Amino acid sequence: MNRDDFNMLNDNLIYLDNGATTLKPTILSSTISDYYNHYSANSGRGDYKISLKVDSMIELTREKIKNFINAKKEEEIIFTSNTTDSINKIVYGFFKYNLKENDEVLLTKAEHASNVLPWFELSDEIGIKINYIPLNEQLKVDINNVIDSITPNTKVISLAYVTNVVGDIRPIKEIIKIAHQRNILVVVDGAQAVAHKKVDVQDLDIDFLAFSAHKMCGPTGVGILYGKKELLSQTYPTVFGGGMNAVFSFNKEREYKNLPYNLEAGTLNIAGIIGFGSIIDYLNEIGMDKINEYEKNLREYAISKLKNVKDIIIYNENSESAIITFNIKDIFAQDLAIYLDKYNICTRAGNHCAKILKDELGIKNTCRVSLYFYNTKKDIDTLVDVLNNPNIKSEII
Ligand code: ALA
Repeated sequence: MNRDDFNMLNDNLIYLDNGATTLKPTILSSTISDYYNHYSANSGRGDYKISLKVDSMIELTREKIKNFINAKKEEEIIFTSNTTDSINKIVYGFFKYNLKENDEVLLTKAEHASNVLPWFELSDEIGIKINYIPLNEQLKVDINNVIDSITPNTKVISLAYVTNVVGDIRPIKEIIKIAHQRNILVVVDGAQAVAHKKVDVQDLDIDFLAFSAHKMCGPTGVGILYGKKELLSQTYPTVFGGGMNAVFSFNKEREYKNLPYNLEAGTLNIAGIIGFGSIIDYLNEIGMDKINEYEKNLREYAISKLKNVKDIIIYNENSESAIITFNIKDIFAQDLAIYLDKYNICTRAGNHCAKILKDELGIKNTCRVSLYFYNTKKDIDTLVDVLNNPNIKSEII
């Protein structure tokens, strides 16, 4: 789908590492280059036309994102650097002040580092406890396991909507319903979800959502933190400086701006944010439901073909997302990725930043294919042919 929009796809490249980052359509570079060449002023500081234009372009992107995830208000959308930055802002700006010693946070062992390490740090700092919802035999989150893991001390559940190794889509709506009935807040790591399916924060009743532009055709260095206004209003800034203050004086008196600006200190990634605005239009034009449907069909096709590859072990055959994780017996995952690269096939190998998942998966390193809407059945056929090469082991050694 839409392959002509991606210059890199003209280059005999089979790009199957979309979980790490996606390729960029030409509209992104043309929008960014228009900013740098024609109105590259700063935002929130200038009283002249091009700076005011920058302000309005940033606010326009904020409004587009608000509509994209169906937030209620523009000030619920905070520009950050990436998903990691968004989660850190929530943990250190909100939960640090709203949790106390022995309060419990529920995670799973399949979470990405960004949704684990900030909680570990906060645990060391204020004495909260980290517990894990057990995964079922398919490495998925079972609603009964969520219920069984909740104790009277559970105050937060923090989960990826779609995980980056197992690729399972969590029943987020049900989890949030159960959590809210017990006054538990839910943080959703949307890094692998928002790019691939319609995420409606009001319908799901999400408290906090974090995601990155670069995993959905957008620029690197732009992330989004969504929070319900009543929660963001209680979120203290974690970065202080220009752009976020209203006044300050020599004797430390200071007043910070209102949302969203108090959480957006310093010069923003203006070019990236404006570019991301053009990407939201681009994705809307294709349609998120269409993207989701296309990926589901492509995944099904890929699984049906990969299953027949000699010596393959697929770890998440029954997941629903665009992520397929596998090994070839007796070949080290990283060696396999390097071998695939000889044929211009880009995949990711290793632990994929989910370093505690090995306890559940029983294996540390895997090779991962992650699809997006510009991938084709032909990409999969080539991958399968290269994996079926009878000389694969000798080419690797
Ligand atoms: N979290 C990203 C991935 O899964 C970087 O590859």
